[in-house]
Amino acid sequence: MLNTIIQIEPWIDESELRELQRVIAATFLVEHELTKEFEGMTAELTGSKHAVAVCNGTLGIYICLKVLGIGEGDEVIVPNLTFVATANAVILAGATPVLCEIREDTFCLDVSRAETLLTNRTRAIIPVHLYGQSADLTVIGDFAERHGIKIVEDAAQGAGVKFNGKHVGTFGEMGILSYYGNKTITCGEGGVILTNDDNLAKAAYRLKNHGRDRKGVFIHESIGFNFAFTELQAAVGIAQTRKLPAIVNKKRAIHDRYVNELQGLKNFRPTFVDSRCEPVFWFTSFLCDEAEELSAFLRAQNVQTRRFFYPLHRQPCYSDRKHVRGIEADFSISDAVYRRGISLPSSFGLTCEEQSQVIEQIRRFYASRD
Ligand SMILES: Cc1ncc(COP(=O)(O)O)c(C=O)c1O
Repeated sequence: MLNTIIQIEPWIDESELRELQRVIAATFLVEHELTKEFEGMTAELTGSKHAVAVCNGTLGIYICLKVLGIGEGDEVIVPNLTFVATANAVILAGATPVLCEIREDTFCLDVSRAETLLTNRTRAIIPVHLYGQSADLTVIGDFAERHGIKIVEDAAQGAGVKFNGKHVGTFGEMGILSYYGNKTITCGEGGVILTNDDNLAKAAYRLKNHGRDRKGVFIHESIGFNFAFTELQAAVGIAQTRKLPAIVNKKRAIHDRYVNELQGLKNFRPTFVDSRCEPVFWFTSFLCDEAEELSAFLRAQNVQTRRFFYPLHRQPCYSDRKHVRGIEADFSISDAVYRRGISLPSSFGLTCEEQSQVIEQIRRFYASRD
C-alpha cells in the first residue's frame, strides 16, 4: 500500500526544537522575550509598525473590530467565500456580517458589488486574501475612504503575500495573520495583529491582556480578556519565520510544475494571479468541472486533496438568518467556484516523486474520461 500523499503539512524539524529548547532552558512559558522577538520579526517581514501576537487569528479579527469601536448594531462587509471564522469573529464582536459576492478571477471580495450592501450601520469591510493571493486593495481602499468605513484585513492565509510590493495585512487600519497548523508558516495556533497606529496597537495589547498595559499589575484601566500568546508558540514561530523564504520558493516550484505539466487537460485550469500581487502558493489550486469526482479518484489512489471553502450563504449555522445579512442575494460565482475548486498536495515536504504521482493520476483520470 502506498503512503498517503498529504494535501498540506507544516515543515517542522530541529530548527523549531532548538528554539523550543531556549524556552525550556529559561523555564518561562508565558509570553515574554521570545514573543517580543517573534513580534519584531513579523513587523519586519510585513513592514508593519506594530505586530501584536495573540492566541489565534479569529480572536485577532475580534480584537481589531473591538478596538476600532465596532460592535452591537454595526455591520461589517465580508466576502461570501472564506473560512467561516471571518464572519464569526464579526458575530463575536456583536456586529452583523454582510455577505458580499466574490470575484470570479481572484476569489476575493468584489467591491463593485459592495456599494449596494452599504447602510448607515456599515462600519468596516474585511477583505480576505484567499489561498495566498491578494484582494484588490486599491479599489477596496478607495471604497472604504469614499464611504468612511474601516478596513480590517483578514490575511490569515497571507504570510509573505504582497500587493503592489507591500505586504498584505498592512493596507487597512488593522490586519491579521494566522499561524494555525496548516498555514504557510505556523505556531500550531496563533495570530498576529498588524497596525501602524500606536493607539490601536496599545488598545489591542490591552484587550488581550486583561485590560492593562503590562503584566504583573492588578489595577485594570479597561475591561479586557486573556488572548495571550506563549513562549512555546513564539519559539516555533521564530523558526518558521526564518524558513518562510525557502517555503515560498518551494511552493512556487510546486505550483509551476503542476501548471506546466497539467496544461492542456480539458476544463482543468490553474487559478488566476493578479499581476499586482506577489502570491504565496499556500495551496496550488485548479478549477475544473469534475472537482468532486477527481477528488474521490485521487483519494482512492491515496492522494489527499481539498475542496474550496463552503460559501457562507450556504452554511447551516447561518440558515436562521438571524446573525448574518445578505444571504438571499445571488451568489452564483461563489457557488461555481466552490463547485469547481480543488487544491492539490502543496506542502513544503512534497517530494518530486510524490508530485509526479499526483500529476500522473490526474492525467489518468482525464484520460479515462476522453
Ligand atoms: C481566511 C481565514 N480567516 C480566519 C482564520 C482563522 O484563523 P485561526 O485559525 O488562527 O483562528 C483562518 C484560518 O484558520 C482563515 O483561513
